[in-house]
Amino acid sequence: MILRTVEALRAQVRTWKAAGQQIGVVPTMGALHGGHLSLVRAARAECPRVIVTIFVNPRQFDNPEDLSNYPRTEAADAGQLAPLGVDAIFAPTPDQVYPPGFATTVSVGGVAEPLEGAMRPGHFDGVATVVAKLFGATLADRAYFGEKDWQQLQVVRRMVADLNLPVTVVGCPTLREASGLAMSSRNMRLSPQARAVVAPALYAAMTEAAQAIRQGQAPGTALPAARERLLRAGFEKVDYIVTRDAETLQDWSDPARPARMLAAAWLDGVRLIDNIAV
Ligand code: PAF
Repeated sequence: MILRTVEALRAQVRTWKAAGQQIGVVPTMGALHGGHLSLVRAARAECPRVIVTIFVNPRQFDNPEDLSNYPRTEAADAGQLAPLGVDAIFAPTPDQVYPPGFATTVSVGGVAEPLEGAMRPGHFDGVATVVAKLFGATLADRAYFGEKDWQQLQVVRRMVADLNLPVTVVGCPTLREASGLAMSSRNMRLSPQARAVVAPALYAAMTEAAQAIRQGQAPGTALPAARERLLRAGFEKVDYIVTRDAETLQDWSDPARPARMLAAAWLDGVRLIDNIAV
């Protein structure tokens, strides 16, 4: 069942709620891959009703070209979801999400400010606003997000806590291609050669650096070495490769707290991001 309007979605959700059924939501922008499907399977295992949302959210793109290049593959997406027993796909038109006169922005501070927040101004405002709206439209009890977008996951957790939203946020592990490359809708924009030969260096370099840090090497030594390795492998540019407090995304100054290594780098004009535990 594909629902296009908030009204139709709400009518369906009301019947499920009346029957006492919990609802899980998997927010996506479509172009589904194995990572998304693993989120759907997690939701399916825990929730009697599962909604997948497909909406390419214009407000979270800082670059118009990135928005127009974003793959739109709704028929194929619906085909992939069919065997997983999804109860509804909510694929609204932009005017359903942002009707004329729309004037509200949800802006998360702190965790949303560094890294992606600094490099892509307005990005997390767009994400937080649409996710808040999707929570409101679906009335979901549980929401599933990939750890692949680690900072996004922390931003959503912060927003839910700060606004007392009645939804449990579930983070699910990153799925990787056999080469180690994190699954992403952007991978399909890489040339076959770059995808097979160069892109896997991102995870390899991060894994090596994280291991070195765990063995006592200073991040100030391990991270520049990882950056060099990426450039040697064929990445055009490294936006960042850092270790941060896993929850706040601020500097990792307290070794007693969990750390996360996060990286963003360009290959074939495509910006890839990844993260791993340190
Ligand atoms: O991760 C994504 O695909 C998007 O940022 C999300 C959460 C669906 C919001 O548009």
